[in-house]
Amino acid sequence: MRIVIIRIAGQITFNINVNLRSRMRKLTIISLFFALISSFTIAAEVNIFSARHYDSDIQLYEKFTAATGIKVNVVSGKDKALQKRITEEGADCVGDLYITADAGRLGAFAAKGMMQNAGWSKAIKDAVPAQFRSAKWTGIAKRARIIYYSPERVNANELNGMTYEGLADPKWKGRLVIRKSNNIYNQSLVASLVKNNGKAKTAEWSKAVVANMARTPKGNDRAQIMAVAAGEADIAVANTYYHALMLSGKKGAEQQEAAKKVMPFFPNQQDRGTHINISGAGMLKHAPNKANAVKLVEFLLSTEAQNHIVNNTFEYPMIGGVTPNDLVPGKEMNFVMDTKTSVKSYGAKQADALEVMLAAGWK
Ligand code: FE2
Repeated sequence: MRIVIIRIAGQITFNINVNLRSRMRKLTIISLFFALISSFTIAAEVNIFSARHYDSDIQLYEKFTAATGIKVNVVSGKDKALQKRITEEGADCVGDLYITADAGRLGAFAAKGMMQNAGWSKAIKDAVPAQFRSAKWTGIAKRARIIYYSPERVNANELNGMTYEGLADPKWKGRLVIRKSNNIYNQSLVASLVKNNGKAKTAEWSKAVVANMARTPKGNDRAQIMAVAAGEADIAVANTYYHALMLSGKKGAEQQEAAKKVMPFFPNQQDRGTHINISGAGMLKHAPNKANAVKLVEFLLSTEAQNHIVNNTFEYPMIGGVTPNDLVPGKEMNFVMDTKTSVKSYGAKQADALEVMLAAGWK
């Protein structure tokens, strides 16, 4: 018996030349042959490289597998390590989707040639407004970077008409906390200012912001809120979901109490709106399971998945008809979002943003 295995366009076909006298033996061989074919069936799968550190994401992938039969393999790690691995593996990289927070991160990695056009389906394009996606990556959830203030030390008049630009006002001297310039959320916020106001103006703004800082930048977003609660500063810049996370008690009683001592303020309500960023997924350059990756993104944008995301990570939904968690500021979604500034500009202006911050002495 001779079995020739030929691969045509990804499908395996078999060419058998059976030369046996007994019909019965022939049938046995054929049965064995079909058993062999079924053992060759390639499992449907999708490979994810994720920098999101949420256990709740894993639960989502399990739901996707249950619904579609497509297995989800996850490599998780920090962005820097994941990007290094993807880059070094090159064409051998089996990753389909790179999932991370921040459009600046997605945009900058795509600009290095590490992603391909994803071929987003109509369902994805209908679900995600154009300013929150590119041909290579798309948002799956939204977050706002806003101001938190001490209601004891900041009065309503001081915040009236407050903007990100207003953080440079000398009235905030010694009263502001914000994290370091190497933080991607800050880089994207400052990139949006470069996009809207130009590099020169943003360079001046950065100097004035540094002059207003109550301390040398340190700690994460939650640490900035803690500083305001502790009286070390009067205003802080932080992402909305961190305040909700603190209020939830998941980060302990001390942070929960601190979160209750600050109030959220949404800047730029009279002009372009509050700075919005995304968590998103990008199609990697050598994705071997592109169609399955698109299916997974469609699932992540479903009402079921979006409800799961907003109630576990405290982000805002990417799609309409889903209500944010009760703990999130602006949960009624009645604040003006900056939908004028495409999140694509965060990656495009990232280098300029970092340059002006460092030149201003922003640690
Ligand atoms: Fe974060």
